Amino acid sequence: MNKPDQLAKPTGKLGVLMPGMGAVATTFIAGVEAVKAGLGQPIGSITQMGTIRLGKRTENRTPMIKDFVPLAGLDDLVFGGWDVFPDNVYEAATHAGVLQKDTLTALKDQLSPIKPWKAAFDRNYVRRLEGSHIKTGKTKWDLAQQVREDIHRFKADNKVERLVMIWCGSTEIFLEPQAVHQTIESFEQGLKDNHEGIAPSMIYAYVALTEGIPFINGAPNLTVDFPAMQELAKLHNAPICGKDFKTGQTLMKTVLAPAFKARMLGLRGWYSTNILGNRDGEILDDPDSFKTKEESKLGVLEQILQPHLYPALYGDVYHKVRINYYPPRGDEKEGWDNIDIFGWLGYPMQIKVDFLCRDSILAAPLVLDLVLFSDLAQRAGWKGIQEWLSFFFKSPMTAPGLYPEHDLFIQSMKLKNTLRFLMGEDLITHLGQEYYD
Ligand SMILES: NC(=O)c1ccc[n+]([C@@H]2O[C@H](COP(=O)([O-])OP(=O)(O)OC[C@H]3O[C@@H](n4cnc5c(N)ncnc54)[C@H](O)[C@@H]3O)[C@@H](O)[C@H]2O)c1
Repeated sequence: MNKPDQLAKPTGKLGVLMPGMGAVATTFIAGVEAVKAGLGQPIGSITQMGTIRLGKRTENRTPMIKDFVPLAGLDDLVFGGWDVFPDNVYEAATHAGVLQKDTLTALKDQLSPIKPWKAAFDRNYVRRLEGSHIKTGKTKWDLAQQVREDIHRFKADNKVERLVMIWCGSTEIFLEPQAVHQTIESFEQGLKDNHEGIAPSMIYAYVALTEGIPFINGAPNLTVDFPAMQELAKLHNAPICGKDFKTGQTLMKTVLAPAFKARMLGLRGWYSTNILGNRDGEILDDPDSFKTKEESKLGVLEQILQPHLYPALYGDVYHKVRINYYPPRGDEKEGWDNIDIFGWLGYPMQIKVDFLCRDSILAAPLVLDLVLFSDLAQRAGWKGIQEWLSFFFKSPMTAPGLYPEHDLFIQSMKLKNTLRFLMGEDLITHLGQEYYD
């Protein structure tokens, strides 16, 4: 990642392409429209609410991030996407039941015209989902061409200058990288041969990358996490990042676990369970989709706690994650954590976290920030994996062989230092000796 000689300005419209227009996508779109209409504030969004300290603490320079780096404005965003249901965004948001009816009614004129295009979908990859708004084609290659046509049409109709694609679709079944994922040639052949290792999310991502469009993976799906996609991203100058928005329970986990480690407090066990009743919860009720999510949720503790360095503290941790589909709760998820820690001389203690959160309310600002930062990255000439966006993900992508940083505060520092680097400001190390010389 080099500092760009020139950072292109965000002129014109930015098209936001969303495969999957369910709870998260519609809460994001409706939220942007609500902010534009003065009906609410973009709470939770780093790009809209965040500041960044520059220079020494004595300089008092703390601009808003959106004034410091050249980001697309909310008025520049145009939304498009695909879904297996034909409902427009107003109808889908109403069905999702996240935002209040009167808010959606006030935004009906903005939301109703946004209608999803037919999805590239295969039920073998999301078993608990059945929809009728689906493309037909002999091969996955044919479906990719249809997705490409949708994008070209959207671009021309809306006169958008740049595009970003963000997967807000369902969690697919667990897949591991295989030979078909290794090279661009094998992947393209796999599309033509209907290879079963190629999930629908990969079809969208393939098209995005070959069109030079940044791709963000909001689900734990394999999608762009293999060599063929990473090669494509570099070849076509497209940034990629993922996986799986870090919103509720894992957000808390990546705050608490670093605190235990910083204080050298031991951990015996961490039991995490969730009840949720939205469509995502229904889909995660399928064991193969849950496995994809479970892998993504389980990885964080091991990396943060580094048991190989601290065997006495973290050598024997029992970590369990459960997701229970419970319809009465809708999108208003409850995440419980029971944490068994130990202190001085091994004396045990417990911490209980009960997070009564709202899944899509937490995810929507992440979608906005990721869209704006990925567009920024592309204008900076950065391509391939964007590790500085780890902050937003449960299972951040990194260069092969490199372990990801999960600690939220390391991730936050990495993000802000990347912005400082981009704009030619000094990086902040928090050393602080200079104030005492
Ligand atoms: N809300 C959160 O806090 C959160 C956090 C992390 C990850 N996620 C992930 O984000 C994704 C979206 O979550 P959600 O709550 O909006 O779920 P949702 O079920 O409300 O929406 C997903 C939409 O994707 C559509 N879809 C599935 N496969 C598709 C395909 N191949 N093409 C086009 N559309 C397709 C579905 O029909 C559905 O409308 C899920 O994978 C979820 O696991 C959500």
